[in-house]
Amino acid sequence: SAAEKGGWSSFMAKEISEEPEAVANTILGRVVDGQVVLPELEGLDEMLAGIDRVIVIACGTASYSGLVGKYAIEKWARVPVEVELSHEFRYREPVLNERTLVVSISQSGETMDTLMAVKYAIANGARTLSICNTQGATIARESDAVVYTHAGPEVAVASTKAFVAQITALYLFGLHLSRVRGTLDPEVAAHQLAELQSIPAKIEQVLGNGAEITQLAKWMSDSRAVLFLGRHVGYPIALEGALKLKELAYIHAEGFAAGELKHGPIALIEPGQPVFVIVPSPRDPNSLHAKVVSNIQEIRARGARILAIAEEGDVAVLPFADEVIRIPLAAPLFEPLLTVIPLQLFAMELATAKGLDVDQPRNLAKSVTVE
Ligand code: G6P
Repeated sequence: SAAEKGGWSSFMAKEISEEPEAVANTILGRVVDGQVVLPELEGLDEMLAGIDRVIVIACGTASYSGLVGKYAIEKWARVPVEVELSHEFRYREPVLNERTLVVSISQSGETMDTLMAVKYAIANGARTLSICNTQGATIARESDAVVYTHAGPEVAVASTKAFVAQITALYLFGLHLSRVRGTLDPEVAAHQLAELQSIPAKIEQVLGNGAEITQLAKWMSDSRAVLFLGRHVGYPIALEGALKLKELAYIHAEGFAAGELKHGPIALIEPGQPVFVIVPSPRDPNSLHAKVVSNIQEIRARGARILAIAEEGDVAVLPFADEVIRIPLAAPLFEPLLTVIPLQLFAMELATAKGLDVDQPRNLAKSVTVE
């Protein structure tokens, strides 16, 4: 009903507007004296110090939050992290033992593919942790431990606020794990945590530029295909941007790692092809910014229409971009929590411009409880 949507045109519009709180509430109560404290992991230090591998399993949007989390967990906790779709993991006889931590991510906690994968992991001797948004859900109950996301109930079928909450929970877990394993300078950890705490206000700023995206979506409502490029943590965001557009607007969309362009996807570029490019910060110590700008030049030269998502003050992209969507300054690992917002808004607005039901896209279910 209209009242349940709190004055918003759809649950999705409402849920996107709640993203600052989804992140803030997931952090709430879990920081003491500038350090992450996760009481739900009490008593597990020895196990967490002893694991030699993390396997993240999830489906859909949740799996892309896992891909983002991999960059942070590996960097901070120095443990190899694999991310796999639950239904692939479950049927390939993965190598598991008591030193493997299987982290499942699920908004509903009821996705059958992920539940079966968790059960398989347990039966084969792995340790399990669930990142879940629904109190008491089946996957949470089956797992050794659970770190809840506090995004609040998500009604729209396609996931938005749960995604940013999942990344937040993975980052908190990554910082916890790095403390237990002694792999991260406490000052660096405190700094990263402060960066995370600064994110809700920055998301608010991104949401403030929503009108721009609505206009862009209207102009692009007859697009037949849209491509998304990113590198590093921008790569999973390119995948998620493409998924949102498929789910909501029924437009053929693909996300690519920008470095992979030259190995194939560049053949898709023809005059007028819209390409969203997630541009890393020019301040990024890995200097991926220059590489992405050169990718932009390569496809621009072949006629691509560039829609750049770039940091405020990044002028290097201006000569090559048809549109620039600005995000506030953030440390590199935290950029996904900002860059995903315009892509969610874009998919929602484009679907709206096409007259589609953004809360209940055709053929999809909020929680897929069959295998
Ligand atoms: C369904 C939904 C997606 C969601 C996926 C995983 O396919 O339509 O939006 O990402 O399930 O759901 P979960 O509840 O496990 O996060």
